[in-house]
Amino acid sequence: MLFKGKSSDKINEDQINLIKTAQRRVKQKKRLFFHLSLMFFGIISFLAVNLLFGFKEELIFFNYPWSFIASAIWILLFLIHTYNVFITNRFMGGNWEKEQIKKLVSKQELKIAKIKTEFEKEARIKAESQLFNEKNSSNCITLIAAASENNVIGNENKLIWHLPDDLKHFKELTKGHCVIMGRKTFESMPKALPNRTNIVITRRLDYIAKDAIVVNSIHEALERSINDKQPFIIGGGEIYNQSILLANRIELTRVHTDSSGDTYFPEIDYKLWEEVSRNERFKDDKHKFDFTFIRYNKK
Ligand SMILES: NC(=O)c1ccc[n+]([C@@H]2O[C@H](COP(=O)([O-])OP(=O)(O)OC[C@H]3O[C@@H](n4cnc5c(N)ncnc54)[C@H](OP(=O)(O)O)[C@@H]3O)[C@@H](O)[C@H]2O)c1
Repeated sequence: MLFKGKSSDKINEDQINLIKTAQRRVKQKKRLFFHLSLMFFGIISFLAVNLLFGFKEELIFFNYPWSFIASAIWILLFLIHTYNVFITNRFMGGNWEKEQIKKLVSKQELKIAKIKTEFEKEARIKAESQLFNEKNSSNCITLIAAASENNVIGNENKLIWHLPDDLKHFKELTKGHCVIMGRKTFESMPKALPNRTNIVITRRLDYIAKDAIVVNSIHEALERSINDKQPFIIGGGEIYNQSILLANRIELTRVHTDSSGDTYFPEIDYKLWEEVSRNERFKDDKHKFDFTFIRYNKK
């Protein structure tokens, strides 16, 4: 009967594998038989030599003549060889090795696929950010934030310090501009920020925010602020994280303390950002911590 296509290939492959395994086993058993014959011949020769030249005292080890010791070692080696042929090679032979290699290869393939996905994601974000920067080349998209030394910016949807001069600085910089924020930051404020165009980002399609424009993505928020020469992204953590690659400037108030909290500003990559100005402020009755206004421009 003629088999065609994949099933016949599979049968042929299985048959070839069976034949190969059988040939390998026959060779292993032949070698074992040869070893057995050689061992018998060897042991008889040892005993004959020993008998011929007598059991000399200087050639007695552990109370046994050298021929006994040598024969015992050889028998032990033969037993190991037998164990390898009938146990190790039977269960961990060629097929076992192939299976192990297959497993290893599929693990490596998984790893490679993961790296590839991450790489593609990074490339997509970079391409999107480049496209945005080209489209908004005359706009200076600015992230504005206050972060502790360990990058904490908030806890339980609240700010963690009260620094009146920082609020004043924030007001001065953002006045008259678009302020873009995540839904949680918007809800952490008593109301929309006055004298600014408030833009709130949410995935909810039915979200209503008083005195604010609601959008469903960061890109949509930036599109809505296209006529503003300097739109500000004012937080919180999720939005900073997703938009830092899109931004041209960071206005950071570094608060000189290590805080505990649940929301963080992303790590600034100094290969991409250069500090262009800094202005230090010291603690007083109204300010519990020293802090510094730092401006970074994208290189
Ligand atoms: N120190 C500072 O300078 C500063 C500034 C601002 C805020 N904060 C603090 O930061 C904390 C809030 O930050 P947070 O990270 O928890 O929240 P957030 O960034 O303010 O808002 C997160 C929300 O934004 C929406 N969102 C995020 N990514 C989105 C996307 N790609 N597309 C559409 N919608 C998206 C989602 O809203 P939905 O769940 O509605 O879909 C998400 O739950 C508070 O503690 C606040 O006080 C600190």
